[in-house]
Amino acid sequence: MAKKILLTGGAGYIGSHTYVALKGAGFEPVIFDNFSNAKEDVAERLEQICGEPVQCVHGDVLSPEDLRGVFEAHDFEGVVHFSALKAVGESTEKPRAYFHTNLGGLLNLLSAMRESGCKVLVFSSSATVYGDAQVQPISETAPCSFTNPYGYTKFASEQMLEQIRTNEPDWVFGVLRYFNPVGAHTSALIGEDPQGLPNNLMPYIAKVATGELPHLTVFGDDYPTKDGSGVRDYIHVMDVARGHVLSLNKLFETGESHLVNLGTGQGYSVFDILNAYSDACGKDLAHVVGPRREGDVAQLLAGTELAQKALGFKARYDLKDMCESSWAWMESQKT
Ligand code: UFG
Repeated sequence: MAKKILLTGGAGYIGSHTYVALKGAGFEPVIFDNFSNAKEDVAERLEQICGEPVQCVHGDVLSPEDLRGVFEAHDFEGVVHFSALKAVGESTEKPRAYFHTNLGGLLNLLSAMRESGCKVLVFSSSATVYGDAQVQPISETAPCSFTNPYGYTKFASEQMLEQIRTNEPDWVFGVLRYFNPVGAHTSALIGEDPQGLPNNLMPYIAKVATGELPHLTVFGDDYPTKDGSGVRDYIHVMDVARGHVLSLNKLFETGESHLVNLGTGQGYSVFDILNAYSDACGKDLAHVVGPRREGDVAQLLAGTELAQKALGFKARYDLKDMCESSWAWMESQKT
């Protein structure tokens, strides 16, 4: 029988793509989302992609009652925990909100899991836990730190899981440190849909391409990189989604925890992304160079060996796929 998996935040950007990947791999995912950063029609769109009804529960990880309700209604064998606040800048303005949602939400979830006897969890972590890493590409053994409240919540969540794992060995965790997920499902039915002004590079460029925003501001062109702009490890969201399938399979197969990076190992600068997106949409995209953004680092590149060794994970999509799928999604939104 298909294993039932709870996806907290399953209606969001990475959650919805992971839903599709889990369905394709024979799991029975159930979405649990408060729709604070997702559109209500995601379930319909997922139904169109998967050709089957979607199980979607409205609920909040900050509500122990909501969590208890979903665990009582379903017999989950595993959980993927996406629900969290994720904007670095906002976290510096509202640190308590970040602690409340990201740490409080995780604690509530762990309590509900414990009550129901489900002890298999895949956790959405982030390359932000590496802070300003000195050695690139960054391996999972690199020292961890944090430079803002958002980063702190990912760091602290990992520490919490590690303490549980050490003291209660029947729990198993797959901790996935995402680098920069971008792009959209090939159907163009789901994709990234940030509310308001996008914080991240590709969604921002996407809105320059549609004409909603006049130009991109390149945050600094004086970094010690090949063209002076920041270099990141962009990874297609469908590769990230597949990483969750591999992680769950490994947890069920081995009963042992793992912690890995999800990246490609390939770095692209802001100008690389701008040019690749311009090719994908067939337009010149305006930009201006502005000052560095506070807290940014020159380069973040994933070491990919451990994910390959532990999970058999290797990214399949390239930068062209990332930009073209993002653009197809943006075009499909025009109505
Ligand atoms: N950038 C611009 N202009 C913009 C937006 C971004 O030049 O309008 C640049 C940034 O300076 C950086 C690169 O594009 O060099 C990527 O920036 P993003 O905001 O897209 O991504 P970050 O690498 O800064 O942050 C992402 C996630 C964080 C996470 C971090 C971990 O958004 O949640 O990766 O590495 F913490």
